[in-house]
Amino acid sequence: MTFRKTKLLPLLLLAGCAVAPMTPAAALDGSNWPTLQQPYAPDAAMEARIARIVAGMTLAQKIGQMTQPDVRYITADEVAQYYIGSVLNGGGAWPDMNKHANVAEWAALSDRYHDAAMRTDMAVQIPLIWGTDAVHGHNNVSGATLFPHNIGLGAAHDPELIERIGRATARQVRATGITWVFAPTLAVGENRRWGRTYESYSSDSRLVAEYSEALVRGLQGDLTGDGDVVATAKHFMGDGGTFNGQDQGETRSTRAQMITRHGAGYYTAIEAGVQTVMASYSSWNDVAAGHDYGKIHGSRELLTDVLKARLGFDGLVVSDWNAIEQVSGCTKAQCPQAVNAGIDMIMVPEDWKAFIQNTIADVEAGRIPMSRIDDAVTRILRVKMRSGLFDRAPSESRYNGRADAVVATDLAREAVRKSVVLLKNDDGALPLARGQKVLVVGDSADSLSNQTGGWSLTWQGTENVNGDFATGSTLLEALKTQLGADNVVYSRDAVGVDVTQFAKVVVVLGETPYAEYHGDVRFPAPIQYSHRRPNDLALLHAVSGKGVPVVSVLYSGRPAYANDLINLSDAFVAAFLPGTEGEGLADVLLGGRYDFTGRLSFAWPGSACSTGEHAGDVVQFARGFGLSYARPSTTGNLPLPTTPGACDPVD
Ligand code: GLC
Repeated sequence: MTFRKTKLLPLLLLAGCAVAPMTPAAALDGSNWPTLQQPYAPDAAMEARIARIVAGMTLAQKIGQMTQPDVRYITADEVAQYYIGSVLNGGGAWPDMNKHANVAEWAALSDRYHDAAMRTDMAVQIPLIWGTDAVHGHNNVSGATLFPHNIGLGAAHDPELIERIGRATARQVRATGITWVFAPTLAVGENRRWGRTYESYSSDSRLVAEYSEALVRGLQGDLTGDGDVVATAKHFMGDGGTFNGQDQGETRSTRAQMITRHGAGYYTAIEAGVQTVMASYSSWNDVAAGHDYGKIHGSRELLTDVLKARLGFDGLVVSDWNAIEQVSGCTKAQCPQAVNAGIDMIMVPEDWKAFIQNTIADVEAGRIPMSRIDDAVTRILRVKMRSGLFDRAPSESRYNGRADAVVATDLAREAVRKSVVLLKNDDGALPLARGQKVLVVGDSADSLSNQTGGWSLTWQGTENVNGDFATGSTLLEALKTQLGADNVVYSRDAVGVDVTQFAKVVVVLGETPYAEYHGDVRFPAPIQYSHRRPNDLALLHAVSGKGVPVVSVLYSGRPAYANDLINLSDAFVAAFLPGTEGEGLADVLLGGRYDFTGRLSFAWPGSACSTGEHAGDVVQFARGFGLSYARPSTTGNLPLPTTPGACDPVD
């Protein structure tokens, strides 16, 4: 297998356009989908081998190969019995449902699944591939270092850092015997109401395109190394542009916007050799053109005509969690429309037996042509062969079972330093000085949960206590380490504390974790931060105005209107969701060796109903904004527009 490495990005950025690999002008103006330079030269020997294997498979074996159950709902013996091609662990699934399962236990489960797949009665054994959501490090595994979520990494504006994070994440994942990661998310986040805003790198499609290539390269390496994993470009396409930011909702972009904006990350991912694409729950309705493509999972136009035929993607397309049930006429256990549209592997976590039975019936009844099944299985085998699974078991990796391979403290600490953004620093409130007595207040100051956000040990990132993480440091712990424990006093709510006894007050404000639609701020509710978390505003009122500088640090999965909080603070840091390494945040709060370098990758709203970068939005801090010690600037008092009870439509 030869991989043509092309460096497209200088061209892309030079063109100053959303995305324009070496393609006709069409892609530059959105008049057509680009044609891409395919990363892999055709491998006739591999294709012939695949064809021979497929020709020798029964229908049941082919459908089993296309089926992806969740590890909670399938045993190793059933993997063998039903010829299963893949498993996943959804958020909150661990070996034996033990949240504290160690790396060796993860690797042992992988071995059991692998051995089962290799003991079937098939003419040619096909190894199983296990997929996982390692979306900010190997976030399922207790003891793994968790990196900042994508919204913070976007503020770093550092593709080289992203590639290194990809390498480290791949090692973490290989330590557990897993070889497929459902990342990068390539959403171009448009509406702050969206609960998955923090999984988007930026509202700037050019940054998304840069990071897409970087993370695919970091995760996949050359695909065959024992520290490489298969990456996933997701969620194809337009997940970040849904109406009112409703998760799994309807994206109403024009075709030109879809081509130049939401498609941005996919072109660079495909040219970087990404092997899998995950379809989006969302739907696309090009209202302007009167063309409703419907749910992406049922759209042959997008999954086959655009992604596979026009863009030339020759890897596999995987559906999202039970997403096929959202296609008209389908259930979570049967959807010929989705298979015919171009879904190759179906993520059917629980109802996989029924799915296999129903899909065999669909083929036998002619509702799915055998040619489509053979194409899907061919793509699955191609990905498995390219990634070396036919040559080496997942356990044949120097990282397999090694607890130290899931730790990446220094890299994550560097990423935290680069991902936080200084929005205000009046009268030199920052840096904190060693030897000063500091009061630290706020629940989030000592909460690895709020610090890491969703997709952390559990799906929602909830139901965790600090001890569950087994690595990392809260900001409070980091400040005690760096300022000296005797110089730091902590009070969750500042009740009964005489603030004037301290040189500075650090207030750590934070959303509580959420993932996916659980994080949506449903229209027409205002998306003002204090409207959703009034206690944080009350805490600021309790400690500000006492003649002691107040430094506020905000953990949040989205930029949200916070002028009321900012006005009560002398310094204000947007820390987003920094992950397990609170030391990185303390590094920049103390300054000296480290300065703030982070710059917003989303515009920061200046009113309670501003949802993104829509016409009429009030922008308080533009995308690209970020202060530093080296470039001080006075922010002063910000306007406090009234907060309506309900917002007017913006989309
Ligand atoms: C979720 C998410 C997707 C994730 C998948 C498996 O619903 O939409 O990003 O990869 O299910 O956990």
